[in-house]
Amino acid sequence: MTRSPDIRLHGVSKIFGSSPSAVEAVAPLDIVLQGGAVTAFVGPSGCGKSTLLRLIAGLEVPTSGSIAIGAESPDDVRRRAGLAIAFQDAALLPWRTVERNVALGRKLSRRSRDAGADADLIRLVGLSGFERRRPAELSGGMRQRAAIARALAGGPELLLLDEPFGAVDELTRERLNLELAPLWEARGATVLLVTHSVAEAVRLADRILVMSPRPARIAADIDVTLPHPRDAGVLRSPAYREACEVVSAALRDLPLTEDLAAE
Ligand SMILES: Nc1ncnc2c1ncn2[C@@H]1O[C@H](COP(=O)(O)OP(=O)(O)O)[C@@H](O)[C@H]1O
Ligand SMILES: [Mg+2]
Repeated sequence: MTRSPDIRLHGVSKIFGSSPSAVEAVAPLDIVLQGGAVTAFVGPSGCGKSTLLRLIAGLEVPTSGSIAIGAESPDDVRRRAGLAIAFQDAALLPWRTVERNVALGRKLSRRSRDAGADADLIRLVGLSGFERRRPAELSGGMRQRAAIARALAGGPELLLLDEPFGAVDELTRERLNLELAPLWEARGATVLLVTHSVAEAVRLADRILVMSPRPARIAADIDVTLPHPRDAGVLRSPAYREACEVVSAALRDLPLTEDLAAE
């Protein structure tokens, strides 16, 4: 297994629209995101987290700066299906059943068919028994889980998860948190995760970037050195609570609005 390449952002900014109504979503950012690691992004809503993920996925073009994934551009990686995205609003193909959406994730990545592995993923996300349902016949949380299964079926080297567990009930979320990590660890995949939950970020990530109010800057850069797997024992440890406290404190320290930040 070769480790997935580092992602390098050099002076990357994003401004939507033009003045006087321009919205600066991402301030010029210089970051290196380590290949094979899980990086979580937390920050106030509207600060530019989704925009940052979309830039890295090649779905938006930076206003300035450049992004490299190893020696490739985001667009190159996306075109050869080297990355998969599970966004908040699960974009499943409405006319395909759950199992055919998941199989499509594999096919788009040019992986050979593996109904057994797909069934395992469907079971993992708690959709056994719903294989033949179409997205419209599922709840929002179920659609979201189907989208996660589809993203994983492609075996991506880069997995982008934008608040993937938002509409998922607490119990399922708990199970996904526990069982997803071994899947991407086994593949050496790079994972970028946007989440509102400090506990989830600390549980899943190797590094947490706390983003400022818009335009997104890095307000804090926190390494999470807890051992893997982050099982119940780790989650009960003082080190875990301490890590959560460090992230929460960084969030509390953020200025309330960008106007205040400018003062
Ligand atoms: N396509 C777009 N056109 C115009 N403005 C956008 C677009 N996408 C995002 N924005 C604006 O950019 C800012 C950051 O949005 P977003 O990245 O979605 O934030 P977050 O994911 O942190 O909640 C917001 O003010 C949002 O309204
Ligand atoms: Mg968002």
